[in-house]
Amino acid sequence: MNDRIHRRTQRLSAGDTEFAAEILDAGGTVAIPTETVYGLAADAAADRAVAKIFEAKGRPAGHPLIVHVADADRVGEWADVSDPRVDELARRFWPGPLTLVLPRTDRVSTLVVGDRSTVGVRVPDHPVTHAVLEAFAQVGSGGVAAPSANRFGHVSPTTAAHVLDDLDGRIDAVVDGGPTTVGVESTILELVGREPKLLRPGGVTQEAIEAVLGRSVIDDRSGPSRAAGMLASHYAPAAEVVVVTADEVGDRIDDTVPIAVIGPLPDIDLGSAIGLALPEDSHGYARGLYDALRTADALGVDRILVVPPSTGPLVDAVRDRLAKAASPR
Ligand code: TXA
Ligand code: MG
Repeated sequence: MNDRIHRRTQRLSAGDTEFAAEILDAGGTVAIPTETVYGLAADAAADRAVAKIFEAKGRPAGHPLIVHVADADRVGEWADVSDPRVDELARRFWPGPLTLVLPRTDRVSTLVVGDRSTVGVRVPDHPVTHAVLEAFAQVGSGGVAAPSANRFGHVSPTTAAHVLDDLDGRIDAVVDGGPTTVGVESTILELVGREPKLLRPGGVTQEAIEAVLGRSVIDDRSGPSRAAGMLASHYAPAAEVVVVTADEVGDRIDDTVPIAVIGPLPDIDLGSAIGLALPEDSHGYARGLYDALRTADALGVDRILVVPPSTGPLVDAVRDRLAKAASPR
C-alpha cells in the first residue's frame, strides 16, 4: 500500500454535483454512486488523474477500468460504436448495468486500458451521477474511469460509508447518493469479434442480452480477455467465506469459531453463530449481499457461511461473486 497519500476526503451531497465535476476537471478523484456499486472516478482522458485511482485502491497497473459517460450519445467519443449491435443494446439497456467492451478511441488515457486496443464503457443509471457527468461534460472531457471504490480485492461498496471505510484520506471526495439499488457490478459483454462474449455476469442477464441480439452469447468469464483484469480471489471480506446449501448450515456451525451465516436463513438453531438475513429473491439478495459481508467483518467473525439464492435473474452474478470471495487467497 502507498502511504504517501494523505488527503482530506470531502463529503459531498446530491446537490454538490457541479463541485464534484470541478474536482474531476482539476484531475482529482471522486467516489460516485451508481445503480450497481459506488465507483472511484477520475478524468478518463488524463493519465495523471487515472494514476490516482490505482494509487488510492492499491490496484495493480494493467487491470483495465470502465469509462462512464452521462448518455449513450457520448460513448462514441471513447469507443468505436459503428457495430450496429451497440445501438440495439444501448437502446434496451442504457442507462443501466451493462458494460460493453469495444475498440477504443485515442481519447482514452492509456492507463485506463493498459496496452489493450479495447475499452469498457457504460452509462450508469443514477440521477446524481448523471448530473455529475453532465456537469463534467460542460467543463471537461465528460468521461470518467471508475472501478469499484474499494481497496483492491475487497468487497465493493454499496454506500458512501463503505467507500469511506476503505478510502477515507486517500481520495478527494465522495458524493453520497444513498445505497445502490442493484448491489452487484455490471454485466460485461465484449463486442469485438463476430461472437459476443460475456466476460462477467451482472445486473443484466445473459438471456436478456441474447433476446436483444437474437443469438447466443458465449460465456467467456474465465477466458483470456477476462483473465487479464481479474484474479481468482476478489470481492473478498477479511473473514474466510464458505458457500453452503441451507441444509449444510447446521453441520457447519462450530461453537469454537466465531461464525456469521448470510442468506435466506434456514429455519434452524444457529447456536452461537450470528445470522445476517437476506431476502430469498435474487434482486433483494444482491442488493444486501455486500453490506452483509462488510457487517460480518465488522462483527469480527473468522468464518462466513453463505447460502446463495436459489432462483432469479441475479443468481448467476451473485454466485460468481461468492465463488471469488470464497477463493483461496
Ligand atoms: O458496475 C460496475 O461495473 C462498477 C461501477 C462502478 O460501474 N465498476 C466496476 O469496475 O465493477 P471494476 O474495475 O471493479 O471492474 C471492471 C472490470 C475489470 O476487472 C476488468 O476485468 C473488466 O472490467 N474490463 C474493463 N475494461 C476491459 C477491457 N478493455 N477488456 C476486458 N475487460 C475489461
Ligand atoms: Mg472492483
